[in-house]
This record gives sequence, structure tokens and C-alpha cells, in this order.
Amino acid sequence: STVYLKDYRVPDYLVDSTHLHFELQPKATLVKSQLKIRRNPDAGEGLPPLLLDGVELELLSVSIDGQLVPASRYRELPEGLSIPVDKPAFVLEIHNRINPEDNTSLEGLYLSNGMYCTQCEAEGFRKITYYPDRPDVMSKFTTTIVAPRQYPVLLSNGNEIERGATEDGRQFVTWEDPFAKPAYLFALVGGDLQHVEDSYTTSSGRKVKLQIFTEAKNIGKCDHAMRSLKKAMRWDEAVYGREYDLDIFMVVAVDHFNMGAMENKGLNIFNSACVLASPETATDSSFQRIESIVGHEYFHNWSGNRVTCRDWFQLSLKEGFTVFRDAEFSADMNSRAVKRIEDVSMLRTAQFAEDAGPMSHPVRPDSYMEISNFYTLTVYEKGAEVVRMIHTLLGTEGFRKGSDLYFERHDGQAVTCEDFVVAMEDANGVDLTQFRRWYSQAGTPVLEVTDAYDEVNGNYALTVKQSCPPTPGQEEKLPFHIPLAIGLLGADGGDLPLDTSGTRQVVLQVTEAEQTFNFSGLLEKPLPSLLRGFSAPVKVRYGYSTEQLLFLMRNDADEFNRWDAGQRLAFMALEQLQQAYRREETLKLQPQLVEAYRSVLQNRDLDPALVAKMLALPSEQTLAEEAEKIDAEAIIAARRFARAALAEALKGDLLACYQRLHTDKPYSPEAADIAERSLKNACLAYLCVTEEDDALALAQVQFDSAANMTDSAAALSALVNHGDTASADAALESFYQRWQQDTQVVELWFGLQSSSAKRGTLENVRALMQHPAFELKNPNKVRAVIGGFANRNFTQFHRVDGSGFKFVAEQTIALDKLNPQIAARLVLPITRWKKYGGDLGEKMKTALQSVMDSGKLSADLYEVVSKSLV
Ligand code: ARG
Ligand code: ZN
Repeated sequence: STVYLKDYRVPDYLVDSTHLHFELQPKATLVKSQLKIRRNPDAGEGLPPLLLDGVELELLSVSIDGQLVPASRYRELPEGLSIPVDKPAFVLEIHNRINPEDNTSLEGLYLSNGMYCTQCEAEGFRKITYYPDRPDVMSKFTTTIVAPRQYPVLLSNGNEIERGATEDGRQFVTWEDPFAKPAYLFALVGGDLQHVEDSYTTSSGRKVKLQIFTEAKNIGKCDHAMRSLKKAMRWDEAVYGREYDLDIFMVVAVDHFNMGAMENKGLNIFNSACVLASPETATDSSFQRIESIVGHEYFHNWSGNRVTCRDWFQLSLKEGFTVFRDAEFSADMNSRAVKRIEDVSMLRTAQFAEDAGPMSHPVRPDSYMEISNFYTLTVYEKGAEVVRMIHTLLGTEGFRKGSDLYFERHDGQAVTCEDFVVAMEDANGVDLTQFRRWYSQAGTPVLEVTDAYDEVNGNYALTVKQSCPPTPGQEEKLPFHIPLAIGLLGADGGDLPLDTSGTRQVVLQVTEAEQTFNFSGLLEKPLPSLLRGFSAPVKVRYGYSTEQLLFLMRNDADEFNRWDAGQRLAFMALEQLQQAYRREETLKLQPQLVEAYRSVLQNRDLDPALVAKMLALPSEQTLAEEAEKIDAEAIIAARRFARAALAEALKGDLLACYQRLHTDKPYSPEAADIAERSLKNACLAYLCVTEEDDALALAQVQFDSAANMTDSAAALSALVNHGDTASADAALESFYQRWQQDTQVVELWFGLQSSSAKRGTLENVRALMQHPAFELKNPNKVRAVIGGFANRNFTQFHRVDGSGFKFVAEQTIALDKLNPQIAARLVLPITRWKKYGGDLGEKMKTALQSVMDSGKLSADLYEVVSKSLV
């Protein structure tokens, strides 16, 4: 059934304190909960029945104020319990049993490699015990965990206040969290774990103990996360004035996890892949991803935990804001322009596609069937762009005033996106009324920009027309308030002054459907650099010529826009190639594009990481998103041809660059070194596209001698994608032999194969699923093998016989029985059938229909499939 934002009501009852008592057992964990409950004074008159959420629980007993309530008095509902109430305040005690071992949904309490752990956001706590499982019910938790001696480490939120032994020889530990919190932030861990420890002194002098827990074999992989955590703590003090608030902060790595990580108060739980790293086993991108996720979860302590969400429609309140915070943290720790390019590339391909697809929804959705389906790129990444726009509109200082007011005003509360915007307004005396449409209207706005220059009086007029395509349930959109950052380039490549004070970059306030901005006193016709730094999540159309894009690529003062000009240029070239392919003409790459790439490659003044980004052609997924109708075959052919033509034409420069950067400097995950490795390995990949023996020999040598995983994986990838089958087989085999004990490396090894256009054929992917290291119950393995094929192997997934779609449908059906959240994500690539023309679209729809017809689906999967079939 569907839940609507407009139906929000405050809770009938509040829970002042929550005492939990667990006796851990794999198939029969006993949970006793004692809740101090009181009627919510804001909820109206009378004493309605107390409604508690509960799913897959075995109820043992209910008592009120120490009196057993007979089963005839309360009612067990399909997903909860209804208890009659005759006094405004009472203590409710419930005993129930759960089965962690058979819990494959990875929601609630479950076992991962023999370790007990929990995931409660959004609605997992109801799989642990009966409770008002909604974020606006905030309570102080005390948790006692009793377990046999094989589980020496027993953790929960807050501070440890007691430990000891029970009479029957088990041990117990009691934790107390002094901060009231919603149930979704509850966590429990029990296992045979090792930990590393460090400490951090906050700006006001509080000494905090920092601990990272893992299985013994991974203890050597915690250092990078620990360093990242300390950097994040320092950064949040410096940039937001936010200090940590408990005496201990714990992180636990878990192999079976649906998402990246979870910000449980004082006890963050991480997907192992998002926390464990060592130079020998993790690539540079893993190092960077870990830094950003450790930051993200840490930053939630304020943006999410101290100030939380009133209801799940407000999810972006904490996620959009926290993604913005982690992105700025990463930008400050590494190359700002490169971080921005990575985030925007992802937004433009995946989020824009979501905005244009059947599940399109606003940053603050109006309704949902299953909230887990709304942990989306729109809520997270577009939500972060919305916060970034506020930052752009208010400036750094104004934004900080707003965030200070927000944290101060709402500390300890469960609030809404509206409260966030109001704090920003109040602190700055501004009106963001129109800006709020970013929260309520779905879809990606399009800006059509035209210009005119009057050389007689030196006036330049920039006309901006905005529109936004219809999305499900929203036919007509009102104009957005769009901050459009621009500069105007003169013939010498520099930015022209835009006013008498010499400003060279302005943020235009686009608020109307059509609007003209005038600039005067310009002595020459300028070339506009539009949407600098990607100042708003929109598409900009302007009729740039090839020459103009080449000029921007060389000269734009905004590094992001230099990259973007290159992308536009490549996009135009790839469009022409697709057309030629469809007309069965000989394909030919624009010589200007080749020369532009050559000069980027030769430019030693640019950050090498930026060069690597500029050398990368837009991905097939990006081309698909931009297309009116997706012609997969033409996209694949055009991109493959362009890449080969570039490699052939540039091989001398690529080789020179590769050799210059291929040094035996010891490994360090510092930004400058990462940048050099990224360019070096981009060159290697291009060189191998030629399939020439010399190039493949370089890859082989690098593979044989690499002392870090970045270089090793890049070489392996080159061999797998371009080498002959025998050397690819040999490299894959020796790599596996060397790393088979390492879960994270095996995941990488799976992903390299399943996502390879050459290697990841359906037959090979099916074979990988039979590999002893594959486990359908482990989301990381599923994402590596099945997800790699469905999301990162455009070529094989789109095979014209439709077998790729059928495969995804089959696996979705199988997974839905084990883990509905993962199934509902796996199915997404086959939900966009409307964007495909003809036969391929039909085949995709048939595959999707087969999921619908397969029997009873989980609520998660049903929502996605039913909304995509209309
Ligand atoms: N709040 C977690 C994060 O930092 C994600 C939790 C996701 N849970 C879920 N059921 N989808 O972003
Ligand atoms: Zn988050």
C-alpha cells in the first residue's frame, strides 16, 4: 500500500526510554524490551490504542506496568500489534524471539560470517522487536547483550556501563546512549572481532576513543579508514564548527551489507568494501571512496543524528545535506575539480536517467510503497546539488550562518526539509520561496541559451529559456530558481570584466520561463562559459561550434568547464559517428577532436588527474541518457570506433606520457600520486586498445611487477579487455591464485570480468556464478557479478537477442526470495524499456513482464516493477 506525505500525523505516543535485552542465539535470539511510554500531548484528546510496528517476530508476552496482558486483550496485526490503553503513561514490556541466521534480507538483526549485526534504517528495527518504528519517536536507549563466550565483542550505541558473567557462564555487556534517538539509529554487534584503536582530541579538548573492528584477517586493512576518520573529525570542526559528542566512536566492518554504510549513533557499521583497504589490495578509487564514506557517516552525527528526519519523505534532509558535506570534504582533501567532474558525471548519467524514467520522483517524494526504494540518486545526489545551490546563493559565510542556526534551533529534534530552508532564510534574511520547487518538482530542467551582441553600443544579451519535461504525476512544472554561474571569454581567452568593478564571474538568478540578462561595455563579442562548476543540476543547450568548444577547452578559467567543453566536443563527434553508422557509411573521426586530445595530453601544466578525465570519452550510458531513443548498437559502434581511432592517432604521445609517469616511486594514496597513476593507467588502457603486441607487453610487464593494486588491476583490466584469450586467462588465473583469500580483491576480480565487453559474455557471467567464491546471499558478490554485467557492460547487456535482459529478470526473481532490497535494485536496468526503440525495447519489456508474472513479489520489487510497466 502507498504512504503519502500529506497524511503525516504526529505520533500518538512517545517513548521516553527504551531498555533492550538480547540473548543472542543464531536461530532463536530472545529480545526483551521495556518502553517508558506516554501519551503525546500534541496528538489530541483521548487514549487511542497503541500501535506498534513488528515484522516476522514471534511474540512471547506483553505486560503493562508489570501486569501480564492476556492475548485476548491485544491484537496481532499483519505487520504489528495493537494494544488498548487506559492510562496516559505506563511501562510496556514485550518479549519476542527472532531468527538472525535465516534473515537473508540483511535488515534487522542478522548473521554475517558468524558475526551478529544490525541494519535498522529505514524500517528494520521492526524486525527486531515491536516498536513505534518512525523517526519522529526519539528515545534514550540502554542495551544489554548476553552471549556465549565465542562472541567476546558485544557492542551497541553510546558508552559501555557494565559487563560481567551470567550464572550459566555466558557474558553480558550493557551500553547506554545518552542522546535520544529514533530506532533507525540503533545498532548491535556481536562477534569474535579484533580492533585497531586511536584517539582524537576535539577542539574543546574532549578526548575521544576511536576503534575500528574487523575479523582478525582484516586487521591490517584499517589504517586508511582511521586516518580518514580523524581528517573528517577535524574538517567538521573547521568548516561547520561541529564537534563529536560521545567519548567513543566505533566502526565495524561487515561483509554482508545492502548499502555502503550506516551512521548508527556512536557505532557506524560499514560494508567491508567501504572501509577496508591496504595498498596491496585496494585501488586508488577504493581509497578515495573509503575516505568519502567514512566522512559521510561521521558527518551524519550532526546532519542526521543530532538533527534527524521527521518522516522518511524528508530523507534528503539528512542525505542530500550529508552528501554535500562529504563532497566538500573530499574536494578539500583531494583535487576539487576532479571530484566535481566525477560527481557530475555520475549525476548526468545515472541521476538524469532516473529523473527521466518510470521511478522519477522529487528530492522530497510525495508518496512511496516501500521507502527502501527511495534511497536513490535523486534523494542523495540531486539532494546534495540542491544544498549546493543554496550554498552558491548565500555564499560560504551566509551558508555557515544558516547551518549554525539550523543545528542550534533543531538540535535533538526530528525535522523537515522545510525547516532546513527556513533556517537558511532566517539566518540570511533571504526569501527562498521559489527555490523550494527543487524539493517538490521532479525531472531535469533544460536551459536553452541564446545570445546577441550589439557592436555599436557594446551590449551583450544572454537569453535563457527554461523548461522541464513531464514526469509521472507531474505534467506541468513551474519555473525553477536556478543559479547560473557564467563567465564571458574574450578573444585572448581571459574572462572579460562584467561590470565597472571588474567582476569576471557572476551567478545569474534564473527565475522565469524566459529571461534576458544584459551586459554592457563589452568591446568585443564574448564567448559564454555557462554553468560553471555545474552550478545547478540542469542541462544547458547552446549552439557551440567545434571551434568555440576547442577554445573553451584550452582557455576556460573554470577547470570543470574545460572538461565539459571537451565532453561536448566528443559528444558531437560521437553523434556524427552514430549517424554515419546508421547510414552504413564509413566511420571517420573529426581530426579536430584528435588534435584537441593530443594537446591535452601534451599539456604539462594541467593536473594529471584532470588530463585523465579529459581523455575519457563520454560513457555509453551517458550517450544513452542524452539520446531521444537509445540505439544501443550505434552507441557501441560509435564509441568503440572513436576510442580505437584516438588510440591509433595518439599512440606516440600516449606512450611518452605512460613512460614518463611509470616510475618506481613507492606507493602512497596521496592526491598527487593518485593523479599520476590515473593518467598513466588511462594511457595504458588507450594503448592497449590498439591491440598491438608492444602495448600489451607493457600491460603484461606492469601486471607482473606491480607493487600496488591500482597498477595491478589496471594492467589486468587491459589484458582482459584487449589481450588474446590465452594471456587473459593466464593473468586472471594467476591473479586469483594470489588473492583468493582476500574478499575485496576477489570482488574486484569478479567485477573486472563481468563488466568487460569482451570477457563478460552471458556464458562467462553464468560461469562466474558457479564459482566457489560467488554467493547469492552476499550483495557485494551480486553487485560484482550480476550488477557488473547489467550496469557496467553496455555491450553484452544489450545483446540484440535480448538474452541479457532475460538473465537480469531471472536473477531478480531468484534474489527477491532472499533479499528484496537488492532485487529491487538489480531490476532497474530493465525498467527503462520505453527509451529504447523497436525490438530491443520490446524484449526488455517482455523480460520485465516476466518478473511481474513470476508469482508473489516483495513490496520492494512490486513497487519498481509495477510502476515501470505502466
Ligand atoms: N543512511 C545510510 C547512509 O549513509 C544508508 C542506509 C540505507 N538503508 C537502506 N535501507 N536503504 O547513507
Ligand atoms: Zn547517508
